[in-house]
Amino acid sequence: MTTSIAIERVETSKITAVDFDNLPFGSVYSDHMLTCDFVNGKWQAPKIEPFAPISLAPSAKIFHYGQSIFEGMKAYKDADNNIMLFRPLDNCKRLNKSAQRLVIPEIPEEIFMDGLKALLEVDSDWIPTNDGSSLYIRPFMFASGNGFHASPADAYKFIICTAPSGAYFGGKVKVLIEEKYARAANGGVGYAKAGGNYAAQFYPTQLAIEKGFNQVIWTDDNTHQFIEEAGAMNIFVRINDTLITSPTSDRILDGITRKSILQIAEDNGIETEVRKISVGEVVEAAKNGSLKEMFGAGTAAVISPIAGFGHKEDEFELPVLEKPYATILKKMITDIQTNKAEDPYGWRV
Ligand code: COI
Repeated sequence: MTTSIAIERVETSKITAVDFDNLPFGSVYSDHMLTCDFVNGKWQAPKIEPFAPISLAPSAKIFHYGQSIFEGMKAYKDADNNIMLFRPLDNCKRLNKSAQRLVIPEIPEEIFMDGLKALLEVDSDWIPTNDGSSLYIRPFMFASGNGFHASPADAYKFIICTAPSGAYFGGKVKVLIEEKYARAANGGVGYAKAGGNYAAQFYPTQLAIEKGFNQVIWTDDNTHQFIEEAGAMNIFVRINDTLITSPTSDRILDGITRKSILQIAEDNGIETEVRKISVGEVVEAAKNGSLKEMFGAGTAAVISPIAGFGHKEDEFELPVLEKPYATILKKMITDIQTNKAEDPYGWRV
């Protein structure tokens, strides 16, 4: 079934004011957005309209109880102007998994996929073509229904807006292994892309930034002895030639970049292990020289090499390698995403 989508176009595009050679991450927005309302127990017809502020009553439950979830995706354009997405249905499925946990009604896949494709066609000129840039896509859903009663709302909004974007991190990434605060707990919402999961990270991250780091590496809430993820990305550690990442759980996001990297690495002869990684093991490996690389992986971050990490009062630098896995794997995944390489997995849409 194809979704019928009304389109209201902007009178004047903002695109001429955009410097596509110097794009920030996520703060320049394309002309249009897709919106869809859930009212009277069902999702209504989606529309494409000019990107603009939306109006909500102060009593909307999003402001009080934080029923809000999102996804992060990217669109690319090749030399023949084909628009490409990477595993978009996986984002839709994960959004609905988050929705279930936050008692938000699931968005039908046709609305998500047809709406996304229509929006990208309307704003196709906004998809950057220079290396390292892409159109960052932010689908999100939140409680627009009203009331101070602490219970799920009766109305929701699904919106997709997009931002032509450059790299998420500028410069070297230094991380601090967190030992006091926790991002998620068993039975909690860590695996969901709930807005509140990110808000909860801001304070510990601010403390880490004050100490000269860019990000926190979250450890398990119970013992703080195992490395989990970095909030805006999953974490990979290379000890000798083995690439290791933590298993997904209640507390760790099932990252689409994470699982794609694992697959590509395995198929290209890199030994991988999905297992718990103790902080002690990483510190010991840094001391004896077997810790070769650490990198973050996520849609926004793609693969972001970590230059060094802090643990308690100590700081460790990662070695500079000639052919790091991070560089090899980043090229492989972005070549698939941007249609510069065959896609044996059928991930590119
Ligand atoms: C993404 O990688 O797209 C995310 O959703 C993480 C976000 C904090 C930028």
